[in-house]
Amino acid sequence: MSNIISTQIKTHRKYGGVVPEIASRKHLEAISGVIEESLLAANVTFDDLDALAVTYAPGLVGALLVGVSTAKALAFSLHKPLVGVHHIRAHICANYIEHKDLEPPFVCLVASGGHSHIILAESYTKYKILGQTRDDAAGEAFDKVARVIGLGYPGGPVIDKEAKNGNPDFVAFKQVSFGKDSFDFSFSGIKTGVINYLHNLEQKGETYNRADIAASFQKSVVEVLSKNLVAAAKKYGVDKIAIAGGVAANSALRSELEKRKENLKLYYPSPILCTDNAAMTACCGYYEFLNGNFKDMTLNAIPYLSVEQN
Ligand code: KG4
Ligand code: ZN
Repeated sequence: MSNIISTQIKTHRKYGGVVPEIASRKHLEAISGVIEESLLAANVTFDDLDALAVTYAPGLVGALLVGVSTAKALAFSLHKPLVGVHHIRAHICANYIEHKDLEPPFVCLVASGGHSHIILAESYTKYKILGQTRDDAAGEAFDKVARVIGLGYPGGPVIDKEAKNGNPDFVAFKQVSFGKDSFDFSFSGIKTGVINYLHNLEQKGETYNRADIAASFQKSVVEVLSKNLVAAAKKYGVDKIAIAGGVAANSALRSELEKRKENLKLYYPSPILCTDNAAMTACCGYYEFLNGNFKDMTLNAIPYLSVEQN
């Protein structure tokens, strides 16, 4: 009904990444206004709500605590049920908002600044991890490479844009494979490959075209994400795949999957629903609500929690 986003990107940009203490303070400053605005935009009041859904895990604990404390206070004072939402589940649920025909089971790639997982959505509230990163998250690699080639923060959107003018076959940045039965990833190797390549050029006094490096790096990441997602879907015998999380906004990932999907049906949210937003949290909260999964006043923020648990 409304999806109000208060972004802190500008504040964190000058540090080249998210500063946790600043992030929690900014959450505290923004939350009351965002709640008020979202009710106003949806044309509802607190009385119209069935429940309060809030992200409680995983993530930066200070930022999560602001949401959890606010939702608990509201649920308590309004006498409404409280629903705890797992952030990765919410990213997956972003796909349901615009695709009314999408139903579980399907295999979903969730790639964001903090997570890279291949997940089997067995039902609306039951998830199984099929593969994950062994080191950096995909979005983290985008952010680091963008910084190294001087493109700024956040790296994903700027690399996506710059890569459009570059040659993706300029350098083949090596991917790591963990064998045909594993759907795990490693992005730290690709990132180090870029850094070493640039370092070598620098030592030889040679210059490079930023767009070619961006395109080659992106190709390597996108290929391994797509390959593993399609392979996992085939192994688990599902006919639908989805992508979610900030990196799912990447245009090269979308076109690579269109090429590789064969007879699988591919789903992805609009870019605004790929990066963090409240609509996906509400959507996930709705299914947890239907499943009777409520929390009480002991709910706490949890920095690390598997998507299989809630
Ligand atoms: O899901 P998200 O908004 O926040 C987390 O939960 O982490 O994801 C943010 C990440 C950042 O690393 C950002 O660089 C990446 O998503 N991202 C992209 C694109 N847009 C955002 N990565 C690749 N291509 C994009 N177009
Ligand atoms: Zn996220």
